[in-house]
Amino acid sequence: MVHEDDGWAEEPARQRAEVLRHGPRDAGLRVVRQAWPSPPRITGDQQSEANVTGVFLTGVTGKLGRRLSDVLVRDGVEVVGLHREEGQADDLEQRGVTPVRGDLAVMTEAELAHVMRGTTAVAFTAGSDGDDESINAIDRDAPARVARAAQRAGIHRFVLVSVFPEAWVNHELTSSFEHWLRAKREAEIQLAETDLDWVIVRPGALTSESGSHTVHVGGAIRYDEVSRDDVARVLAHLLEHTDIHREIVELTEGHDRIPAALQAYANFVRSRHAL
Ligand SMILES: NC(=O)c1ccc[n+]([C@@H]2O[C@H](COP(=O)([O-])OP(=O)(O)OC[C@H]3O[C@@H](n4cnc5c(N)ncnc54)[C@H](OP(=O)(O)O)[C@@H]3O)[C@@H](O)[C@H]2O)c1
Repeated sequence: MVHEDDGWAEEPARQRAEVLRHGPRDAGLRVVRQAWPSPPRITGDQQSEANVTGVFLTGVTGKLGRRLSDVLVRDGVEVVGLHREEGQADDLEQRGVTPVRGDLAVMTEAELAHVMRGTTAVAFTAGSDGDDESINAIDRDAPARVARAAQRAGIHRFVLVSVFPEAWVNHELTSSFEHWLRAKREAEIQLAETDLDWVIVRPGALTSESGSHTVHVGGAIRYDEVSRDDVARVLAHLLEHTDIHREIVELTEGHDRIPAALQAYANFVRSRHAL
């Protein structure tokens, strides 16, 4: 059932979550219709702390998303986390996340815009279960739909977790793995075509080792592993600081402290624009 806006945007995220706990359709989700806002003008010398007060996070129950939400909550950023199962809500709340229940495979753009409204950035860390249907729905199609929803909700900053082009190295390149790589690439293309202030992060092979707080980042670097801990810290930095705009950032383990590594990359991008 679709309704016009009746003050939903003004409701605090925690209150919205209460309504949405039972699922967007069950809750009689109220849909806001509004013109898309103008995109921000991004200039090469723009260097600012993001005014990020809230992040809408997909994949919050996953291995990477969970780490990212912990970093953001610790930094005082409100996290609105999308989860599929009812039983996940209590754990999310205990970790300081505002849970909203929904399934990326079926949520419409309008429904997504509703649940993210009030946040100031989107982080997409969700990933498919690996079967073809899920790869198409979550890895290929969902990022673009979430991006359109962000535009509807007036959110500009969008950080997408993608994959290294060489991710097949040391893997048997099965048809489903190739399908996954193509799907992730298609999602990159669709996000890059938007007017959003996007950053696409291509991490190397993700590990669950403890992070070192040091990484290697660049526009084109050698494929290697990287811990989810450090990827989460990089994502948090990119959400909380807006020195890097509309760029692909490749990321592996390395020796540079994360803030310095990202600042150096931002400086490199700026110098490239100045050429
Ligand atoms: N593994 C690697 O080496 C590697 C390399 C490069 C990039 N990546 C990417 O890194 C990201 C994070 O990886 P990870 O290891 O943290 O993945 P993960 O632990 O498998 O987490 C996946 C997350 O996506 C959520 N999700 C799946 N389908 C969904 C749906 N239909 N609706 C809503 N949420 C859904 C899952 O929710 P549930 O809890 O409900 O399942 C979970 O929170 C993914 O985008 C992955 O493609 C991975």
